[in-house]
Amino acid sequence: MVQLTLPKNSRVKPGKNWPAQDGGKTRKFRIYRYDPDEGGNPQLDTYHVDVEDCGPMVLDAIIKIKNEIDPTLTFRRSCREGICGSCAMNIDGTNTLACLKGLEEIKGPVKIYPLPHMPVVKDLVPDMTQFYTQHRSIEPWLKTETVEPRKEWLQSYEDRGRLDGLYECILCACCSTSCPSYWWNGERYLGPAILLQAYRWLIDSRDEATGERLDDLEDPFRLYRCHTIMNCTKACPKDLNPAKAIAEVKKMMLERRM
Ligand code: SF4
Ligand code: SF4
Ligand code: FES
Repeated sequence: MVQLTLPKNSRVKPGKNWPAQDGGKTRKFRIYRYDPDEGGNPQLDTYHVDVEDCGPMVLDAIIKIKNEIDPTLTFRRSCREGICGSCAMNIDGTNTLACLKGLEEIKGPVKIYPLPHMPVVKDLVPDMTQFYTQHRSIEPWLKTETVEPRKEWLQSYEDRGRLDGLYECILCACCSTSCPSYWWNGERYLGPAILLQAYRWLIDSRDEATGERLDDLEDPFRLYRCHTIMNCTKACPKDLNPAKAIAEVKKMMLERRM
C-alpha cells in the first residue's frame, strides 16, 4: 500500500530552548538537530544569539553558537568565501551557502535545516555519497585519444570562454536538492549539478569523448527526468544556470540524431 504520511520517527519535534546570550541585540535561531546515535526523532532547537558581537553571515552565527552555546551542533564549513561548497544548507526556506547568506537578509527567526531530501549524517550534515558517486559516473576529467602534447593541451580564448558559467560550479548541491525530479528519482536521475558538470566536459574543445559521453546520458532517467521546472537555477548561490546547461545537452542529443 502507498504510504502517504511520513514515518513517525522522521517527524521534527520541538527541541531544547537554550539560554539566551547576554547582549544588546539577540536574535532567535531555530536549528534542525538529529543524532542517529541517540535514535530519537529530529528536533528543532532554539538559540538566542547576541548578533551585535557576531559576524554578518549565517555561518558566523552558527560558528558562534557552536563556540559559545552548544558545542554539539554539527555542520560542515571550510573556506567561508563561497568557494568550497561545504556549508550548503536550507536557510529561511532556501538552499544556499551559510557563508554567503547575510543575517540582515532574513526577517524574524532564522530557520536552518540540512539540504532537503538527502539522508542526514548528523544535524546539518547531509550524506553526499550518492551525489559524489553520480559525479564520478560522468567521468569529470579530460578524455583524449590524440598523442599527448609535450606541454599542455591548448585551447583558443574563444573555446575557453565557452566554459564560463560552468567551471565555476562548486558542487554544493543546492540546485540538485531543490529539484523535485531529483527528490523523487535521485537514484537514477543525475540532477542539475551533475548534468551541468557533464555539459562542461561535453563542450570542452580539448575533450575527444563527446560521442561516448552523450551515449552515457542517452537514458530515460539520467538526463530526461528534467522537466524544466527551473528551481535549480533559482537556487544556485553562484548564479549559474544548470537548467540551461541541461537544455544544451538535450539539444546536442537532438543534433546528433539529425
Ligand atoms: S530545470 Fe530540470 S534540473 Fe532544474 S529543477 Fe527543474 S527539473 Fe530539476
Ligand atoms: S550549479 Fe550552482 S547550485 Fe548547483 S552545485 Fe554548482 S554551484 Fe552549487
Ligand atoms: S564555507 Fe566554503 S562555501 Fe561556505
